[in-house]
Amino acid sequence: MLTLALSKGRIFDDTLPLLARAGITVAEDPESTRKLILPTNRADLRVVLVRASDVPTYVRYGGADFGVAGLDVLLEADATLGGDGMYRPVDLGIARCRLSVATPQGFDYAHAVRQGSRLRVATKYVHLAREHFAAKGVHVDLVKLYGSMELAPLIGLADAIVDLVSSGGTLRANGLVEVEPIMDISARLIVNQAAFKTKTAALKPLVDGLREASNNIPI
Ligand code: PRP
Repeated sequence: MLTLALSKGRIFDDTLPLLARAGITVAEDPESTRKLILPTNRADLRVVLVRASDVPTYVRYGGADFGVAGLDVLLEADATLGGDGMYRPVDLGIARCRLSVATPQGFDYAHAVRQGSRLRVATKYVHLAREHFAAKGVHVDLVKLYGSMELAPLIGLADAIVDLVSSGGTLRANGLVEVEPIMDISARLIVNQAAFKTKTAALKPLVDGLREASNNIPI
């Protein structure tokens, strides 16, 4: 049995068409079931639904043989899990967005940086944010949040946020503006190294199928 770890939402929705092109259909829609293990049309493959930030943990420790995780989540996990134990063979090119610094409209970020002001920044991505600001020589106090980062500057919890921006709709709706892109993000296929060695015959065709399917995605 092979186990694929996915998270509900964008990762699941964008992975589904790739799986379909590789001949795999998932038996149930995660939005209409509370089940966490979903069978597929293949008797030897199941999907498990986990929190996006837990996908690398499941794959790293062999709870899942492979999974799909955003580069943001992967890089952040590297800081705590270490990069060992997982292959990252394919940039699937899905769930594209960018990690950016955003501030309330009217906050002069460039001026604050020039002045050497100490900024309070709310984010779920403390490791990536710390690296980014350290490389720029900007002094920051990081406030770790687990979601709804956009709220923090609105109620005076932070001067700025570091968060994912896709359409920009969430920032606009909350009166924030993107002031500094940090990196482009897309979802990656990750594979447990031991599983890839012991289950090569079953796993490699799936990895190859997903790679081929992702190559055909219009960018
Ligand atoms: C992400 C991110 C932003 C939003 C950006 O949240 O944290 O809030 O999407 O997308 P937009 O630019 O298209 O508005 P997501 O919906 O993935 O949920 P999360 O807060 O649980 O990460």
